[in-house]
Amino acid sequence: MYQIVSKKTLAPAIHEYEILAPKVAKKARAGQFVILRVDEDGERIPLTIADYNREAGTITVVFAEAGYSTGKLGKLEAGDAVQDFVGPLGVPSHVDKFGKVVMVAGGVGVAPVFPIARAMKAAGNHVVGIMGARSKDLIFWEQRMQEVCHQLLVTTDDGSYVRKGFVTDVLRQYIEEAGRPDLVMAIGPLPMMRAVADLTREYGIKTMVSLNSIMVDGTGMCGACRVTVGGETKFVCVDGPEFDGHLVDFAEQLMRSRKYKAEEQLALNRAGC
Ligand code: FES
Repeated sequence: MYQIVSKKTLAPAIHEYEILAPKVAKKARAGQFVILRVDEDGERIPLTIADYNREAGTITVVFAEAGYSTGKLGKLEAGDAVQDFVGPLGVPSHVDKFGKVVMVAGGVGVAPVFPIARAMKAAGNHVVGIMGARSKDLIFWEQRMQEVCHQLLVTTDDGSYVRKGFVTDVLRQYIEEAGRPDLVMAIGPLPMMRAVADLTREYGIKTMVSLNSIMVDGTGMCGACRVTVGGETKFVCVDGPEFDGHLVDFAEQLMRSRKYKAEEQLALNRAGC
């Protein structure tokens, strides 16, 4: 069992857990993920690592209550434990000195963007952060992002905080005013990552996205997380989670992400949600 050392609710139905998992914390690197199960019968939930503390032996994960299993996870408190916590999984982010790097975070995507932005800054890049949420109450970790970005631009869909617009509006304005960055990295909902990739394609800017697919084994054997990248089948769990955004078949990914909607609703109905 893996104990939840601390719990913070960052926004409505968005939680930050620090989980005691020394062996995972020892090896974790920016861009990797874990798979956890709340209990023996639980669905496997893949979550990108939001932070790690090697001394304390903890991993930080942030998630939104988006369905039955994440809802069940969100009901746990500090002192409770989860059944399994496997990781670190996946290929770490490719961190190098690229020059100017724009990190685009949508919604809960701010959490996995944070350690990558920190690593990019430590590698000597000029890091620009763009973070967006539907409304002010869903914004979190702004201060933490300030610390790892040379410049941070915040936007809300409804204009309730800083400015009104999507992250793509901010990104386009930034490119037009400051010129092409050397790399764009986007993490957030699939439609947002697709929109970022479509925009940067126009400008010929290399763009990486981090996919959060449905997963079962996390070892490349079950095929649940497959994705088509540049016409080839890849597995998010072992080949990713980061891929060239210009090569990802987003239409297929969106279709696959909705595949178990009916089962999800059934589980929610059975739980009386
Ligand atoms: Fe099974 Fe990736 S989760 S192949």
